[in-house]
This record gives sequence, structure tokens and C-alpha cells, in this order.
Amino acid sequence: MDTSGADTSTGAPEGWVNPLRDPRDRRLPRIAGPSGLVIFGVTGDLSKKKLIPAIYDLANRGLLPPGFSLIGFGRRRWAHEEFAAFAREQARERCRTPFREDVWEQLAAGLRFVTGTFDDDEGFDRLADQLVALEAERGTAGNYAFYLSIPPDDFPTVCRHLDRTGCTRGPEGSWRRVVIEKPFGHDLASARELNAVVGAVFPEDSVFRIDHYLGKETVQNILALRFANQLFEPVWNANHVDHVQITMAEDIGLGGRAGYYDGIGAARDVIQNHLIQLMALVAMEEPTDFSAAALRAEKTKVLESTSLALPISETAARGQYAGGWQGSEQVVGLKDEEGYDPSSTTETYAAITLEVHNRRWAGVPFYLRTGKRLGRRVTEIAVVFRRAPHLPFDATMTQELGQNALVIRVQPDEGVTLRFGSKVPGTAMEVRDVNMDFAYGEAFTESSPEAYERLILDVLLGEPSLFPVSREVELSWQLLDPVLRDWESEGQPEQYQAGTWGPRGADEILARSGRAWRRP
Ligand code: BG6
Repeated sequence: MDTSGADTSTGAPEGWVNPLRDPRDRRLPRIAGPSGLVIFGVTGDLSKKKLIPAIYDLANRGLLPPGFSLIGFGRRRWAHEEFAAFAREQARERCRTPFREDVWEQLAAGLRFVTGTFDDDEGFDRLADQLVALEAERGTAGNYAFYLSIPPDDFPTVCRHLDRTGCTRGPEGSWRRVVIEKPFGHDLASARELNAVVGAVFPEDSVFRIDHYLGKETVQNILALRFANQLFEPVWNANHVDHVQITMAEDIGLGGRAGYYDGIGAARDVIQNHLIQLMALVAMEEPTDFSAAALRAEKTKVLESTSLALPISETAARGQYAGGWQGSEQVVGLKDEEGYDPSSTTETYAAITLEVHNRRWAGVPFYLRTGKRLGRRVTEIAVVFRRAPHLPFDATMTQELGQNALVIRVQPDEGVTLRFGSKVPGTAMEVRDVNMDFAYGEAFTESSPEAYERLILDVLLGEPSLFPVSREVELSWQLLDPVLRDWESEGQPEQYQAGTWGPRGADEILARSGRAWRRP
């Protein structure tokens, strides 16, 4: 078998190496090498709900090295055992795979806690000593990732201390990486500052920016759907596509999250990162291969060709949920949620329109919307096709025929739906829309890993494909900044009733061109 990667098929220039024929079998999961993970903000919500359970699941799947170490850094005066008891509780309650005592015991042997605050020199000195000690005790080989699950305001202090104590530099041959969580700033200027702060102590290829949507199975399937098939790509352009709708709707409210959410809002929380990344994956050109460099280059390129549709007053909308009924539950409006000021102008719903200025997408609007307390929880990407240029039917026969659409159902009920017209059975001729469905749950027996499992593993493996680079982050802010400035000058957002599909202003964006949002 030829495993050199050299292309021997006809047509390729002599000596051309097909990067897709890397001799490594990519179907096999990779196991992280000797390493440890330090979490700042380890008692926070994200760590409890996502990070610790994901680490347990990775251990349970045999994807962590035997000497793996998890180091929590925080204010509490915890002994290692107390931290282990806390972590066990989180893992047991929320793990995806079955909880097994033997797996836990092995993981727990590598759990450490370092007491300290972010402005406390001694805490970081102790952390540095702990990392060195673990090299000998657990064989981490000096490889560590630092997960900053903390407010961005604390990044400069933590980065400075990591640098001062030498934590950013390991022994010869080892690696040090930093993982940062959104929000990556609150506008372009602050994102640049943040990138500079982190970049001053960690080189760009050691910075892993988490956008957990990129770790979702269905999001990665966008690339497989587009580039592993012949069927879709020929119609994936302005000649055939009328518009694209990207929706991330949630039914939950914001009670208990005031500290993070108030003053941030839906556009910064979700559009700047998750939705613009989804849009980039839908709109980008085919990468030369699936290397991180090639993927990031294509995403960056398409974002560079993207602009906000104008005028903002007609192409963007925001709203704030008022009280109402969600199913059988009566819920309060944002202003009555605990921790929110009754005069809060924070939007809980945001919609924007983007345009991509290239040959493929000229004239095709990309509508992005997200909101809390909407009709139901659903994230989907709908590529809506133009109508057939001519219908050789009597108008009454196609009265109920809509536009063809390809809908990537990101969650829940993960899969893909193709909507097209079909004859209604009977002696008369009538054409109506039908759906052809692919459902992950039916097609595969394997269950999907949680986004955080994949992303944490990728950090430990040093596999950067699923992490946006600083340029992508800055380009996203560049798109959003004018909308945010516009909204700031406008005062109160429009109210919408909980359990509905958002403010009227959002419907008007599409209605202006005779279109309508899907009701998923
Ligand atoms: C986070 C947002 O990034 O994504 C939250 O900050 C949102 O506001 C969450 O609820 C949704 O994630 P998922 O994976 O449940 O769709």
C-alpha cells in the first residue's frame, strides 16, 4: 500500500502530494499526550456544567493520558480532596457517558487545588510550584493548558502573573497553551486590546479561543455536506440561492445570569461569535484541505468580503422579552428577572442582515437571528432557494408550493431536511411542499460527543482547526459594531411577549423584500 501521500492517480502534476492522503487514519480517535489543564474560574457555572463533566467523559472514553492532571485555581481554601469531592459531584451529575468509580478514581488522583486570587503573587507562585511538582508526580512532561473561564477584565492580571512566574514557558520540548472563552471583548477596540494582552505572553499559535458551536457535530457536518458531495455545491450560489436564514432560538430566560448578560445582550453574546462563525462556514469557499491553516484562511477570506446590509434601521432589529406564557409556564419579563434594572436596555433578541461581496453570493442576504424566551429551542441554518423560473402548471395547482430549502438542523433533533414540491396523491394535479429528512439519531448508532469534550481534547492535542483566530474575531466585531452603536443611541428595545417568535421589527426586515422568517 502506498502510504507516502504522493498522488499516483492520473492528472495530478508529478510529485504533487495530496494532503487528503495523509497516511494517518483519521477515523481513529487520537489520545492526548502527557499533559495537565489549569482552570481559572473552576467553581463557576461553565466549569461546573460543561468543563468538569467533559473532562470526565474524555477520561471515560480513554482519551486522556494516564497521568492527566486537572488543577483548579480559586479563592476557596480547599485541600486537594475537597476540590476532588466538588469535581466528582459535578461530573456525576452531568456526565454524558456512564459514571464509573474506577475511572473517577484514576482521574481524581491527578486533581489539585491551588488557593489564590488573581491579584495575589503568592497564589501564582504556588501554582508554578504545583506545575513543576506534577511533572515528577504524574509525568505531565511540563505540558499545560490554562483555561481562562473568567471575565475578560481579569485576563491582563492573570496573563501577567503567568508570565511573571514562568508558567507561560515550560521545559525544553514542552508546550504551554491558553484557552479563552467569549466574550472576546465588547467591541472591535476592546477585542484588539484583549488580543494584544494575551498575545504579549502567548504566541498566536498557543491561543485557543473557544466558540463551542464549532465543536458541535452538526456544525462540522456543514463542511462534510458541502464538500464531500457533488449534489449541493453546484447550486450553493447566488444563481440558485434566494437567501440564507441562520436561527438560534432559545426558550430559556435570563434569570440568574444578570452578572454576565446585563449590558452584553444577544448580539454580543451569540451573533458576534456563534452565528457569524456558522455564516462563515456556509459561505466560505472550499479549503485546499482540512488543515487549520486552510480552514481559517477561507473563513477569514469570506468574512473580509462580508458587510452589514444598510440602512441598519431596516436590516437589523432588537427586542427584549416581556412576561408571558411559555407552554404551560407563566414567565416574567427581563426587567422583572432577578438582578436586572427595570430600565435595562439589554436586548434579548437580535437580528441582522449580512451581505457577501463576491461572485458566489452577490445579492444574497444572510439573515442572522437569536433570542431568549422564544417559541422553542432550535438552532438551524436554512438555505432557501429561488423559485423555479417557470412553472408549467395552472396557478391553482401550485398555490401552496413554497421555495425549496435545505435546512441544517444544528439542534435539537440534529439532521438535515430538504424541502421540495411533490404531487399530492389523487386524481387532480396539485403540488405541495414535502420534507425529506436525515436524522442523526436514525442514521447512526454512535452518539455525538459534547462540544466541550472535542474542544478540550483538541487543545491538549494542539489541533487548532476549530478555534477562531484573532483576525476572525476582529472581523466579526467590525461587522457588529455599527449596529451596536446604533442601538445604543436608541434607548429601549421593542418588547416581545415570551413564548413568541420575537419583535415585530424583525419580521419587517424580511417582509420588506417579500420574505418571511421560518417558524421552525
Ligand atoms: C452561550 C451563550 O455561548 O451559548 C448562552 O452565552 C447560550 O447565552 C448558550 O444560552 C447556548 O448554547 P447551546 O449549546 O445550549 O446552544
